[in-house]
Amino acid sequence: QICKGINGLDKVVLRDVRGSSVEVYLYGAHVTSWKNEHGEELLFVSSKAIFKPPKAIRGGIPICFPQFSNLGPLEAHGFARNRFWIIDPSPPPFPVNSSNKTYVDLLLKPTEDDMKIWPHSFEFRLRVTLGPAGDLMLTSRIRNTNSDGKPFTFTFAYHTYFSVSDISEIRVEGLETLDYLDNLQSRQRFTEQGDAITFESEVDKIYLSTPTKIAILDHEKKRTFVIRKDGLPDAVVWNPWDKKAKSMADFGDDEYKHMLCIEAAAIEKPITLKPGEEWRGRQELSAVPSSYCSGQ
Ligand code: BG6
Repeated sequence: QICKGINGLDKVVLRDVRGSSVEVYLYGAHVTSWKNEHGEELLFVSSKAIFKPPKAIRGGIPICFPQFSNLGPLEAHGFARNRFWIIDPSPPPFPVNSSNKTYVDLLLKPTEDDMKIWPHSFEFRLRVTLGPAGDLMLTSRIRNTNSDGKPFTFTFAYHTYFSVSDISEIRVEGLETLDYLDNLQSRQRFTEQGDAITFESEVDKIYLSTPTKIAILDHEKKRTFVIRKDGLPDAVVWNPWDKKAKSMADFGDDEYKHMLCIEAAAIEKPITLKPGEEWRGRQELSAVPSSYCSGQ
């Protein structure tokens, strides 16, 4: 189950009988591959990604915790994405009726050094599950294990990079008419107009209190990604476009055309946990053949 990935980093590969698979690095508990039963890669990972600590892997599904972006004193997107997680050798079982699944549980607990930058004790359990239909489920359980009686507060995101045929042809449904904070305009609040989201320039927006289902329609690949989320009210939409792409050392100049980040997140209302309390945030991804034809 565990094997060596790029630069000798450990990774776990989950496979199901129909041929779909998921690959997760212990470094960052970072999903770097999700393939359907035809062996097609559904996630984007940059050809320039640096698989070397402390750099987070560019692509796949970075975990942003305990801070989204630079909305606080910690490094951008927090530290969970550049720590080494461990595998739980005896994870708790699934609820009844859901035995037909392949999964791995990864655990993160803070080191003494971590507690110097974020003085809280926690246990973070990430369950990565490959469902029978090739769906990818990520369930995070974060527990406050502080013994000093203190609560802690965090923000969170599954920073999923979807692989798309051509960003200019993509439509995102489920975010129309919502309020968002625009990271490119000092996080001012705006309201989205009534149409599906399309892309023609850099975008970096935090959509607030979204529906639990968001769809990415890729007409050229005849594929629709469906994101279902629970405990994660917000959704970030990010594409760096050409200029920003060129400024990133671990991202190819033209790769922005073939990726789109939709990030199930809890940002606007940070989560507070008292000692002993646990928070759960879940995202379920499926990729379904679509018969969608734009305007036809
Ligand atoms: C997005 C943020 O979630 O992540 C962007 O909204 C940011 O502002 C992007 O540029 C990438 O972040 P990083 O730290 O992985 O380069």
